Amino acid sequence: MSANVKDPIVFPVSKISAPNRVALAPMTNTQSHPDGRLSDDEATWLKMRASGGFGTIITAGAYVDALGKSWDGQIGIHNQTTAESFLHLSESLRQGSSIGVLQLFHGGMRAMHDANTNLSPSGGTNSRGQTIARKMDVSDIHLAITAHVEAAYRSKQSGFHGVEIHGAHGYLIHQFLSTETNRREDDWGGSSANRERFLLHIVRGIRERCGEDFLIGVRLSPEDANWFHGIDFDACLDLSCRLAEDEGVDYIHISLWDAFKAAEKYPDRGPAITHFKKVLPPEVPLMTAGKIWRGQDAEDVLSYGADILALGRVAIAHPNWVNEYLQDTDYHPSAPPFSVTHLKNAGLNPAFVEYMRKWKGFVEN
Ligand SMILES: Cc1cc2nc3c(=O)[nH]c(=O)nc-3n(C[C@H](O)[C@H](O)[C@H](O)COP(=O)(O)O)c2cc1C
Repeated sequence: MSANVKDPIVFPVSKISAPNRVALAPMTNTQSHPDGRLSDDEATWLKMRASGGFGTIITAGAYVDALGKSWDGQIGIHNQTTAESFLHLSESLRQGSSIGVLQLFHGGMRAMHDANTNLSPSGGTNSRGQTIARKMDVSDIHLAITAHVEAAYRSKQSGFHGVEIHGAHGYLIHQFLSTETNRREDDWGGSSANRERFLLHIVRGIRERCGEDFLIGVRLSPEDANWFHGIDFDACLDLSCRLAEDEGVDYIHISLWDAFKAAEKYPDRGPAITHFKKVLPPEVPLMTAGKIWRGQDAEDVLSYGADILALGRVAIAHPNWVNEYLQDTDYHPSAPPFSVTHLKNAGLNPAFVEYMRKWKGFVEN
């Protein structure tokens, strides 16, 4: 039987519980300070979603090292000053019922620096063939692992219940996992075991440093999409199982951009998310996101096997989505485009509204 949106959930390793099956998806919103400190605007935007009933609040990707920063206004968790800026937010989340999860991020070759400073397992070029990153040496790799582990520890000290490791969407961890961006011939490239080593060291390091009572989730892209390639669906299924069975991960988050879609590799075998549900241990929650808009969409995706739904764009426009759904399960939130006034009332500052103009058709002209 599939889960109900209203059901609470207990994460298997940390034993932390969330009051329902809806999470705020991690969303970069460019509202924070140039040095990575959380701004009042970004804190307010997150708190509004906690008041709106979201059981799990996942922050935007926070860079674990200044080298990994990818956008102006992005939050960071790379030093003590940025870590302290989250204390108020996590305190406020703890006073309510939502749990707070910080997303750990490193842009790798897609960071905002120059070709000599951006890092990637094998260096990197853009679509025009220009060099955009240098190849990491083994000491860079160890430094990047430590940066993730220490950032997780700072998140714990800042009062978060846990972290989500961003291993999706073509950023640094994904660059290690991908056969296209990782062409190394040492222990960190080649076989899938070698390409996964970077992520596994991060997971193990965080568990050791932060203890059993700290929640650890991992977000993965299951196959090629948009601008990132070199990921095989079956390899991602295997990796998810290893993370869940052997590495003490509290949840697996599969980023599909369309939670209803079939795997491109298996177009006739039903929703991609169902494949993950079938192979993962039943006690390890499976989270997914993508095009969940109405109450009925949420119920459908739970029936495909997801345990937790991460809502992205609908949560930007409708901060009270969960409370509205709880009152009327046939909830039909209004669709884009949204006026600037609507978005302002939903807690977006002018920088975030501008950023959302990049998402075609979201903001009214
Ligand atoms: C404005 C915006 C920023 C995003 N930033 C992140 C991010 O920081 N980390 C991440 O893993 N995904 C990010 N995503 C992807 C979302 O988490 C989500 O997977 C995606 O939007 C699909 O869900 P939706 O159809 O409900 O929007 C972002 C999406 C949007 C719209």
